[in-house]
Amino acid sequence: MTANDLRRKYIEFFVAKGHREIRSAPLIPENDPTVLFTTAGMHPLVPFLTGQKHPLGKRLVNVQKCIRTGDIEEVGDDVHLTFFEMLGNWSLGDYFKDEAIAFSFEFLTSDAWLGLPLDRLAVSVFAGDSDAPLDEESFAKWELLGFPPSRIARLGKKDNWWGPAGQTGPCGPDTEMFYWTGSASVPPNFDPEDSNWVEIWNDVFMEYHKNADGSFEPLSQRNVDTGMGVERVTAILQGKASVYDTELFAPIFSRIRDISGHSDPRSVRGGRIVAEHLRSAVFIIADGISPSNIDQGYVLRRLIRRAIREGRQIGIDRHFTRDLADVVVQTYSQAYPELGCNRQAIAEELEQEEQQFTATLEKGLREFNKLIDSIPEHVKRKVISGRKAFYLYETFGFPVEITIDLASERGFEVDRDGFDIAYRKHQELSRQGAEKKFKGGLADHSEATTRLHTATHLLHKALRMVLGDHVAQKGSNITPARLRFDFCHPEKMAPEQLRRVEEIVNEQISRGLAVIREEMTVDEAKAGGAIGLFEERYGERVSVYTIGDFSKEICGGPHVENAGELGAFRITKEESSSRGVRRIKAVLA
Ligand code: ALA
Repeated sequence: MTANDLRRKYIEFFVAKGHREIRSAPLIPENDPTVLFTTAGMHPLVPFLTGQKHPLGKRLVNVQKCIRTGDIEEVGDDVHLTFFEMLGNWSLGDYFKDEAIAFSFEFLTSDAWLGLPLDRLAVSVFAGDSDAPLDEESFAKWELLGFPPSRIARLGKKDNWWGPAGQTGPCGPDTEMFYWTGSASVPPNFDPEDSNWVEIWNDVFMEYHKNADGSFEPLSQRNVDTGMGVERVTAILQGKASVYDTELFAPIFSRIRDISGHSDPRSVRGGRIVAEHLRSAVFIIADGISPSNIDQGYVLRRLIRRAIREGRQIGIDRHFTRDLADVVVQTYSQAYPELGCNRQAIAEELEQEEQQFTATLEKGLREFNKLIDSIPEHVKRKVISGRKAFYLYETFGFPVEITIDLASERGFEVDRDGFDIAYRKHQELSRQGAEKKFKGGLADHSEATTRLHTATHLLHKALRMVLGDHVAQKGSNITPARLRFDFCHPEKMAPEQLRRVEEIVNEQISRGLAVIREEMTVDEAKAGGAIGLFEERYGERVSVYTIGDFSKEICGGPHVENAGELGAFRITKEESSSRGVRRIKAVLA
């Protein structure tokens, strides 16, 4: 059975049980600043798990793309991945433990579906603690379905509790299903510590809300949230030892073999890291992220740079990320059309990052070796200081995790705390400098840039008038030559909509509206109808720019004094930036 068959069967099964299929949400959470990435299918559903009505009803199913970086160090073994696809079904206050477990059991064991032998399966249930009791109901249900008690483990919060995805939110006890992958005969007792038992599915009974003070309270409704990893289960169904042995990775390894000359990159850790990290990078870029030194951009940078360094280790001696990305796009674009739509942007981002990093990689590696050689043999605890690790980061673009990798290969440690201190000091200094120099996504404060910045506010408002209030800024980048504005909108704009937006902006410019800056609290700004990114904390004062009676936006500036200074506004391009996000480029003549 291929991954495609598995996805199809899963959806078919749950649709037959009254579920409606929903699309995968983007990897970058749209309304949740508490996490960097979508880590599970439940994530975009949080409002519906906590009471809001979902337009498609109470039973949902999907395939969700996810990023988890917690296990990044394990990547290269047989099962860990940073990007993976998760099959999930949900009950939003509808069925609960009994039906959820019955569904899981039928899908796993029935010959009409996966047909896994019961004898190779085991399960675990929540053992209970001071927050919630032992899950007797799940235990009894599994027993009724034919599991002997020796194959039902009772485990604590560490193993059998899921969520919340961020610091607070819906969560609950879960019951997990395991499959025996060992070549020896299946032992009668289930030992969760034995790595031959691989977890394949998790049914979470989401009935609690974790509060900021660490306490748990019952949710207004009892939900089911389940997750099954596509890559893992595909490998198991094909009797393969590792997630890298399925058709999902085959074309990627075939290209790595061609590029590196390595006879079997699939069998070595470095080869697996190259394949895995670039696959993740492609998906992250397709959802609108560029490599940078903060947040998602930093994770992306780290994945790409680590892949490049590992690529060297397995014999790749030229730029290759773009080439490999092409294979990833080909492999996945049918299931995830956003990859195909962003093929060009993916290639360009990777190429640029690769150029930047390889320009300093050799020198950085030499510097690293010098550094190691300068530490005398007899020193007992072999540590690279935080200051030196920071020097490698700042001067050669080595993410600290790469320095840690390199160090451990030579039997050294890195003073991570020391690195963090040096990093924070640097951040503070550059923040002070940046506040003086730049604001927002402006390349400089030249007159041309400032004019385009004011034009961006007019554009933002005009887009909302023409397309609707769902239009919200997702990003902005302004150089003296053009503005670039990314905003939420589900489809390509029609030519007449673009013309209308241009017209509105030019009308406002010709009215010669004054641009006025005021300071107020975030609440006052909101109450006054200001739009913009409400990132500031409650109570903090923000600056708000008003352009006549037309636009009001929270913004750091700078702006021209009168919109009449702008000249003629012209949109030069409207294109997709990522799924659900459009990008406009425009100029002032
Ligand atoms: N949200 C649960 C998980 O990710 C299903 O395992």
